[in-house]
Amino acid sequence: MTAINEIAPDLFRLSVYVPQFDMQFNHFLVKDDEPLLFHTGLRGMFPDVREAVSQVIDPSRLRVISFSHFESDECGALNDWLKVAPESQAVCSFVGAVVMVNDFADRPPRPLNDDEVLNIGRHRLRFLATPHVPHAWDAGLFFEETDRTLLCSDLFFHPGDPEPLTESDVVGRARESIIGSMTSPLAKDMPYTPYTAQTMQRLAALGPNTLALMHGSTYRGDGRNAILDLASVIKETHGRDEAKAEATAGG
Ligand SMILES: [Fe+2]
Ligand SMILES: [Fe+2]
Repeated sequence: MTAINEIAPDLFRLSVYVPQFDMQFNHFLVKDDEPLLFHTGLRGMFPDVREAVSQVIDPSRLRVISFSHFESDECGALNDWLKVAPESQAVCSFVGAVVMVNDFADRPPRPLNDDEVLNIGRHRLRFLATPHVPHAWDAGLFFEETDRTLLCSDLFFHPGDPEPLTESDVVGRARESIIGSMTSPLAKDMPYTPYTAQTMQRLAALGPNTLALMHGSTYRGDGRNAILDLASVIKETHGRDEAKAEATAGG
């Protein structure tokens, strides 16, 4: 069962909850002249996500198949979408295109430069190249400028099957999840690089009023402060990891 919610005008959140992982996988569909999908979903999830898309638009009308970075949940079903929507094109970062998608995709992708804007009708989506934020060299995010929604991929990750939209604290949930996962095999998913602080500041300066999370509730509220608070959490938790690594190396 895919939960479908319109989280901003003509921007739909298609959420699949997977009990084995206790987490949501959220895909975002922008209904416009040239419809856009952000996150293809896993290959195994394709029938469910296609069914959800078809409740909003005819899936063959999709024009833009986009994602933040090259991982199965973000773009595993890319080629299934390219088949279903014959006029669609994969759209990703320059690094993503050159290093992975040129070879992986059944049709050539369209690489976007940092700060390039996609006009798909009423909506304008600004692409921000954000290497290693949330993770991966090829990472990028979209800011939907018309209604000020940041499609923020794995940032603010929190588990469970929470409400589609919240106005309460998502930073606390993300912090709990980062700290909770520090000893798991999936720890260290978000590195703190020399560029992390400036990337987070750049995202905050966009002043989003909606943060569309891939895993967890969409947040409506002061996106600027939420991003700055998350940046502090990442720095703080990275500091703990660093201290632990130094102690291990020293001892
Ligand atoms: Fe990811
Ligand atoms: Fe993800």
